[in-house]
Amino acid sequence: MSKIGLFYGPTEGNVEKVAKLVAEKIGADLIEVHNVRDIETDVVVQYSNIILGISTLGKHTWSSDNEGNDWDQFLPKMNGIDLKGKKVAIFGLGDHIAYADFFVDAMGELFEVVGKTGATVIGSVSDEGYEFNESRAFVDGKFVGLPIDEDFEEDMTEERVDNWLKIILPEMK
Ligand SMILES: Cc1cc2nc3c(=O)[nH]c(=O)nc-3n(C[C@H](O)[C@H](O)[C@H](O)COP(=O)(O)O)c2cc1C
Repeated sequence: MSKIGLFYGPTEGNVEKVAKLVAEKIGADLIEVHNVRDIETDVVVQYSNIILGISTLGKHTWSSDNEGNDWDQFLPKMNGIDLKGKKVAIFGLGDHIAYADFFVDAMGELFEVVGKTGATVIGSVSDEGYEFNESRAFVDGKFVGLPIDEDFEEDMTEERVDNWLKIILPEMK
């Protein structure tokens, strides 16, 4: 298996925590981890197997040019890049209690951008075990990636990650 590139943002929060957990489980020799704040898209295209990690921080942050949000800066750069033939898996941090109507929306937004790159998105997840009202990341009866709620379901994160890796790793050959 060629090395997986994991790209995440922002830093020092729950996304970073889960990115580290994913990397630890896959093993340092098989994965390289990058913060989207530190790279340009030419780094992303070097990998055949890609994992993206994002959090939802409120609709208003998407249209602002808030410099504190790493994905706000990076996502527009991904428009138009070519990821044909590559596999992409996405995980998204959210809060299913306070934001039940917008649960992990940013993961859905990222999925839409990745869809235009020609990549094959893998690692969709059933809504079984999740409670929410609406989510932009819920498409055709499934989540487009792995939702994680570190605010209210921290104890479920490890099992969710383990189950997800069982799905995506065999596809990342
Ligand atoms: C201002 C703000 C807005 C948020 N908006 C949403 C939201 O719309 N949907 C959601 O699922 N979670 C939302 N959350 C919850 C975060 O996504 C969640 O706490 C996540 O773990 C943060 O990860 P991070 O610290 O790595 O950014 C919001 C949190 C904050 C602070």
